[in-house]
Amino acid sequence: MSLRGFIFCCLLAISTAQDETNNKLFPEGFMFGAATSSYQIEGAWDEDGKGENIWDRYTHSHPELVVNNDTGDVACDSYHKYKEDVAMLKELGVDFYRFSLSWSRILPTGFVNKVNLPGVTYYKNLIKELKDNGIEPLITMYHWDLPQPLQDIGGWPSEFIIEAFAEYARLCFELFGDDVKYWLTFNEPKQTCLGGYGQGYSAPGITLSGLADYVCTHHLIKAHARAWHIYDQEFRATQQGLVSITIDTMWHEPASDSEEDVVAAETALQFEFGWYANPIYNSDYPEIMKTRIAERSLAEGFNKSRLPSFTDEEIAYISGTFDFMAVNMYTSMLTAATDEVPVGEPSYTYDIGVNSYQPDEWESSSILYFKITPWGIRKLLNWLKETYNDPAIIITENGTPDDGSLDDVKRVRVYRDYLSNVRSAIEDGVNVFGYTAWSLMDNFEWLQGYAGKFGLYHVDFDSINRTRTPKTSAAYYKKVTKTRCLVDTCEE
Ligand code: NOJ
Repeated sequence: MSLRGFIFCCLLAISTAQDETNNKLFPEGFMFGAATSSYQIEGAWDEDGKGENIWDRYTHSHPELVVNNDTGDVACDSYHKYKEDVAMLKELGVDFYRFSLSWSRILPTGFVNKVNLPGVTYYKNLIKELKDNGIEPLITMYHWDLPQPLQDIGGWPSEFIIEAFAEYARLCFELFGDDVKYWLTFNEPKQTCLGGYGQGYSAPGITLSGLADYVCTHHLIKAHARAWHIYDQEFRATQQGLVSITIDTMWHEPASDSEEDVVAAETALQFEFGWYANPIYNSDYPEIMKTRIAERSLAEGFNKSRLPSFTDEEIAYISGTFDFMAVNMYTSMLTAATDEVPVGEPSYTYDIGVNSYQPDEWESSSILYFKITPWGIRKLLNWLKETYNDPAIIITENGTPDDGSLDDVKRVRVYRDYLSNVRSAIEDGVNVFGYTAWSLMDNFEWLQGYAGKFGLYHVDFDSINRTRTPKTSAAYYKKVTKTRCLVDTCEE
């Protein structure tokens, strides 16, 4: 190793080491919450008039893709046990509950021609139960479970979806908006588009990377903007809520202090987060995406960029369609510059053109890519402040998977360390107003099935009752929500 390399490694070790737990109180008014999503917890997949969605279809037609052939057919049975869920939230002392609406439970065809009343009643009851217990609902409208009929006519890469989503959003505001202050249009849109239509690791499993994922994103961003404007024009005055979108990203740490690696890390952040965030929080797609994708597309023989472009009017319509910033963050990468991949097949990964990896020495969790990097959340929060003009930020997901044991001391430490870095970011001057633990309880972790365990509460998936039991982390989180302090005693 060169001297320069050695010095860099030492610096990196220092910058990524976990400092002492921050012992400052979280500010008065800081909101703590816990999260789930419809397909992952509700079950009752075909009950009371609910329509089929793409995750129903995916798990039923490709059982081999999910660990143990698990499905969300019953999941945590929250469709029947929502009162228990709310009692758990109450016990945790959280300020809010982030959950999602199942589009096909409300609109079985996906369109507003047929509203499924039992589905509407379920969410009304859940919201009422939350409010009666002093817990604010924070609702995600779309957490990956597209009604199957909408996929059958093309799904997100088809333009009709923009209007279909806008109408669904309007209906949600009409039905529930009087009792809801916080709305999220989409959860982790990159997973919808890259996972669903690019790399195929998520329903509906289409693999057309560098093409369908970009078109999907284009429509999804327009759909988000439509929903925000509908709220702004038709509901804000009376309902006085806030609307945003949850975008996920890893933190990308430059693998060295060389200019090339610093640029590579920024490029990765722009492709991962800026792809969605730049049109909404700034304007248009990031320059680096526009340039790189156009260059590679032309070299590949396309007549124009594979990245669709917004008109000036669309750019203006989309820019500013947020009332706060919502971010999901779990882990980090080291990112280095690399030789340009020779031109060939279109690919999002080749379009980014960097080398991102997680060193073996970083602490593992039970799922390979969820390495534990609490320091990354502080860096990310500072980067968000700088890059997007100091928005008010809520972390809408953070957590770690483990083996599901009740005495989950590692999860306690992970929550403490990430929260400590969030608290430090607040001291750095970042305007963070809330934090959400993923997840309230063990649930259907997509391709990991029930083997992926993120819960503060254990769920016994072998029992017909889906018995819930608090883990050690639930007790810790309860203490944090009560005292706003991560250690035994805190300073103001
Ligand atoms: C991202 C997703 O929003 C959620 O559905 C998932 O379970 C967690 N992160 C953990 O992977």
